[in-house]
Amino acid sequence: MRVAIIGQGYVGLTITVGALSAGHQVIGIDKSSAVISGLKSGKSHIEGIADSVIANGVSSGTLQVSELYSQASEADVVVIAVPTPLDEKGSADLSLLISAAKSIGEVLKSPKLIINESTSYPGTLREVIKPLIDGGSGQSHLYAISPERVDPGNKSFGVKNTPRVVGGLSDQARDAAVAFYKSFCDEVVPVSSAEVAEAAKLFENTFRFINIGLVNEFAEIMSAMGIPVDEVLKAAGSKPYGFMPFHPNVGIGGHCIPVDPLYLQERAKEFGITSRYIALSEEINHRMPKYVVKRLMQEYGDIKAKRVLVVGVSYKADISDTRESPAQPFIENLRERGAEVFWHDPLVSSWKGENASPIAGEYDLAVVLVAHSNLAMNGWTGGPIFTTNFNPKFPDWKPLISVQKKS
Ligand SMILES: NC(=O)c1ccc[n+]([C@@H]2O[C@H](COP(=O)([O-])OP(=O)(O)OC[C@H]3O[C@@H](n4cnc5c(N)ncnc54)[C@H](O)[C@@H]3O)[C@@H](O)[C@H]2O)c1
Repeated sequence: MRVAIIGQGYVGLTITVGALSAGHQVIGIDKSSAVISGLKSGKSHIEGIADSVIANGVSSGTLQVSELYSQASEADVVVIAVPTPLDEKGSADLSLLISAAKSIGEVLKSPKLIINESTSYPGTLREVIKPLIDGGSGQSHLYAISPERVDPGNKSFGVKNTPRVVGGLSDQARDAAVAFYKSFCDEVVPVSSAEVAEAAKLFENTFRFINIGLVNEFAEIMSAMGIPVDEVLKAAGSKPYGFMPFHPNVGIGGHCIPVDPLYLQERAKEFGITSRYIALSEEINHRMPKYVVKRLMQEYGDIKAKRVLVVGVSYKADISDTRESPAQPFIENLRERGAEVFWHDPLVSSWKGENASPIAGEYDLAVVLVAHSNLAMNGWTGGPIFTTNFNPKFPDWKPLISVQKKS
């Protein structure tokens, strides 16, 4: 098949690689000239995707990349993988998805299979994407949805062995999308409607969001009681059924967990329902950066005028993605309390208009929020090093979320 993939980021490039592995001809389209020129020169900008896969695709001609949507008119299948973030008010921002759908509609001259992989609320494919593309192209296309489940950096589960849910606006569309995904995924789970697939994705991430909120609150309770939460969670985790471990942390980040539940909440409100679970978990997860700063001050003392190095500003280990990273409110909180804050991340050189600082320097203390596998505190001459949770690789770092055993 000839497959046009709109958006060549974490999701789009992953699907590009999956489709190439099945022998499809891929046209990767992205509005970013930097992304396209990088791919053209055979470079992958996504962790876990090797340069060689991109370089081989480009040199053999099985992968064409372009900023121009006109290339999509040649495709049999068009996959949409553009960001669906929150706007400044915390509401669903579909502007990039809408713009992509309009651009697709302008170039398609014959009926295609259109698949949306971008996460959004139930009804997006039917009420937003289809009218824009059908209206723009004057054609009636087949529409399906397969919400992406990629977990960047996960070495155990990738596009091949992660089961894929597929729904369509018609059985014909769903079956065509199932056939497409079966060409490079081990297991495809067809469902009865597009809305079921859209809602399944939101529920998966809302489940995580709420359980993280629960464990974050539990960690505060344990700390107040002087009980080490990590040991409690390990003990609870020995139950072989009916329990799934989640771990407290400085907050939640990335493009999915902090965002998707709010899409569900917003849509639910349109139906007259307010999700109390989502609202409560949001409140707890968002107070974590402040809580960890409070714990830091309990352990260290006043941080006013102290030079603090925050280590790890991406939202999770071994990923350079800083979207919605809790490091930002954490740093803001430190600064509000008068600390002079610097940051270091082996995977991020600049962020929020600031450059990374070296480990070697004059600091009073460090707080490690994310410990990438390649992190080494070589050259550290500052004071104590704090972290969120106990790290067996660095037993001297002082955890702030779990209380420490009395020596
Ligand atoms: N990152 C993840 O782990 C993950 C996992 C599952 C689902 N998702 C969902 O997948 C979707 C894409 O997320 P992502 O992480 O791949 O985003 P990303 O920012 O990594 O990549 C998106 C790409 O789309 C391009 N783009 C934006 N608007 C465009 C347009 N109108 N036309 C063409 N290109 C455009 C951007 O330049 C960027 O390169 C989102 O809905 C997200 O919620 C992401």
